[in-house]
Amino acid sequence: MRPISRRSLLAATFLAAAATTSCAAGPLPPPLVEPGPGAVALNTRARHKGLFYGCALNDDTLTKDPATLARIEAECGIVVAEWSFKWAAIHPKIDKYDFTSADALMAWAGKQKIQVRGHALVWHEALPDWLPETLNAGNGEKLLTDHIHTVAGRYAKRLAHWDVVNEAINVEDKQPGGLRNTIWLRALGPAYLDIAFHATAVADPQALRVLNEYGTDYAIDWQERKRGALLDLLSNLTHRRVPIQAVGLQAHLDAAETALDQKILARFIADIASMGLKVLITEFDVRDDRLPADIASRDTAVADHGRAWLDAVLPNPAVLGVLSWGISDRHSWLNDKYPRADGLAQRPLPLDEDLNRKKLWSGIAASLDAAPARGTPSRT
Ligand code: G3I
Repeated sequence: MRPISRRSLLAATFLAAAATTSCAAGPLPPPLVEPGPGAVALNTRARHKGLFYGCALNDDTLTKDPATLARIEAECGIVVAEWSFKWAAIHPKIDKYDFTSADALMAWAGKQKIQVRGHALVWHEALPDWLPETLNAGNGEKLLTDHIHTVAGRYAKRLAHWDVVNEAINVEDKQPGGLRNTIWLRALGPAYLDIAFHATAVADPQALRVLNEYGTDYAIDWQERKRGALLDLLSNLTHRRVPIQAVGLQAHLDAAETALDQKILARFIADIASMGLKVLITEFDVRDDRLPADIASRDTAVADHGRAWLDAVLPNPAVLGVLSWGISDRHSWLNDKYPRADGLAQRPLPLDEDLNRKKLWSGIAASLDAAPARGTPSRT
């Protein structure tokens, strides 16, 4: 008989302790989680509560970074492609689909028994050049429906969720309902959302249908307006029985933002849940470009901020799980979008560039451990 490894012993000890905790009343165990190599992985902790943990990955990670891929395999139960399922990647010409990259990711994930979430069937970015020149009121419904039937149909029964519509709200565009003024809205009006959700329900009835959004995290004016517009949109869609099932909150956080109000966040999640919708945290990361350079204090601020945000959200049973937008500081979109003035790389993710677990890893672990156990196992 194989000797029990330290890791399995640790895992068993953790799960036994957590099981006792989640059943017994009384105080939770001390939340501090040692981020050492032996600590139980994030998805193991998540699944124990009926949640999931995962991350985004891109072609380079899949094909050129086996060390990072191995860590994703160890820490994650679900992944999302940073690029491969987007229009520009998968539908490069009006009469040509290219599934090479998406198929490669699906093949790897299938081998690893890791779930995949699709991202995104409708967005105003990452569009192939031919689309904006072609799309109009006359052909829009067929173009959109054909794309969704082709792409979502190809992976039917194999995806946990689809981000059916990504980033539909932008109150500053002054459109009815606070909708973002995109090529989709201009061609089809607000009905583009109905068309997309109905087409996805036909193409892949099994994948959870998600409306994904950013900028709903803080008690600041534009985000309060955005939360309000999103809730109104969700109410409109659900009352009209548009087949939306969940909301994705991207959670691109900012460690320097002081307006993190846990009560407002918890209320927002409860308002979404009250419409019978589930909630997923889909692109979690914590930018640190507005913090001083010192790594130890940056890591602490990022971890404390990220955990405080998760602690406000994970207690609601409508929340199904968390994906971070990447797993390690080796690669983050934030370095392009918000480069630090001192030229240092940002540290927004659970692992550092050497793939060691950071304080943010511990913060996520602690928040997962503190979350109430869901009655049913997670969708991954
Ligand atoms: O253009 C090349 C393409 O020719 C090549 O085939 C492909 C191979 O991977 O790479 C492409 O390069 C870039 C791609 O990222 C690589 O992953 C694209 O030029 C670049 O535009 C693309 O940026 C992505 C961006 O979305 C736009 O799609 C970022 O990586 C990705 O992190 C970012 O993610 C978005 C979410 O989808 C929605 N929420 C916000 C989030 C951050 O902007």
